Amino acid sequence: MTAAPSRRFAALPKAHLHVHLEAAVRESTLRQWCDDDEVPVPPLVTYPDFTEFLDAYGLLIALLRTPERIERLLDEVVADAAAQGVVALEFATIPERSAAFPGGATAADAALECLLSAAADAGRRHGVWTGAIVSIDRSAGPEHALESARLAARWADSGVVALGLVADERGHPVSGAAEAFAVARDAGLGVVPHAGELAGPAEVCAALGLGADRIQHGVRAVEDPAVLELLAERGVCLDVCPTSNVVLGVYPSLGEHPLPHLLDAGVRCSLGADDPVLFGVDVVEEYARAHEQMGLSEARLTEVARASLEVSFAPADVTAPALTALAQWASATDPPV
Ligand code: ADE
Ligand code: ZN
Repeated sequence: MTAAPSRRFAALPKAHLHVHLEAAVRESTLRQWCDDDEVPVPPLVTYPDFTEFLDAYGLLIALLRTPERIERLLDEVVADAAAQGVVALEFATIPERSAAFPGGATAADAALECLLSAAADAGRRHGVWTGAIVSIDRSAGPEHALESARLAARWADSGVVALGLVADERGHPVSGAAEAFAVARDAGLGVVPHAGELAGPAEVCAALGLGADRIQHGVRAVEDPAVLELLAERGVCLDVCPTSNVVLGVYPSLGEHPLPHLLDAGVRCSLGADDPVLFGVDVVEEYARAHEQMGLSEARLTEVARASLEVSFAPADVTAPALTALAQWASATDPPV
């Protein structure tokens, strides 16, 4: 039996590099937790503005109020990743905002320990490598930024792979995290800020200036050919999430999304789902939509998956066999589904 074209991409080996952990909860689990807690289900898929979207994300964080829920979340997220052909999963999270371990900076270590242990267990069970991106909430001030970097550094050898920077870019430029990025880099961590999502190409340029290893979104680089050239020259990957960009009004439709243009300009891109339950997509669906609605061929999407594996922080013993399997997927005339 031939698989639906959209699910064919589940067999394509890939790394998922742009996904916010709390928003990767299964909708069924989300509904059950809301039921148990007698709270309304957060709005899904439609948001009047970015602030209301971030509020919905905050409600998801608040539901994770016990270690048992964290463990269940990780088990399901990693199981789902395995089913989507994801061999390496880098998930973003803000440990300081953990509802299960409230109390700010001191509790953040406990939150992160719980999360990393659950991720490692789930990774072993489901055969997926996992890495955590400790994220700075860019609206929470310089102390939080530095504390997040120090927290990430303390867990650098225990499952944290990078420092991220999330939330609304407008009024909170990437330059505000320069010192935090330096701390992360000194600890051997990667630096993967959100930039060029709500703000323009100057923010992508600033992120490059601060030594970003990858940029989450970065799509508005397309507005400045010089920034595109710089990205292509340096091989810095953009972790692009087209459905997120459409839902949040960055672009009016997938047909008008700049991913094909970015690839044409020689910019490396990976595909991610960003906040799956809030946008109603998983990473396989993002590949399918890129194929069916953005006109990207299977060959080009194979290159996207290849880039995701090459730029992932996963070790070579994870990525090398996946790259071999990817070449087989690409060369098979009737690929296994
Ligand atoms: N946090 C969760 N999703 C985000 C997004 N798309 N942009 C910035 N911060 C986020
Ligand atoms: Zn994101």
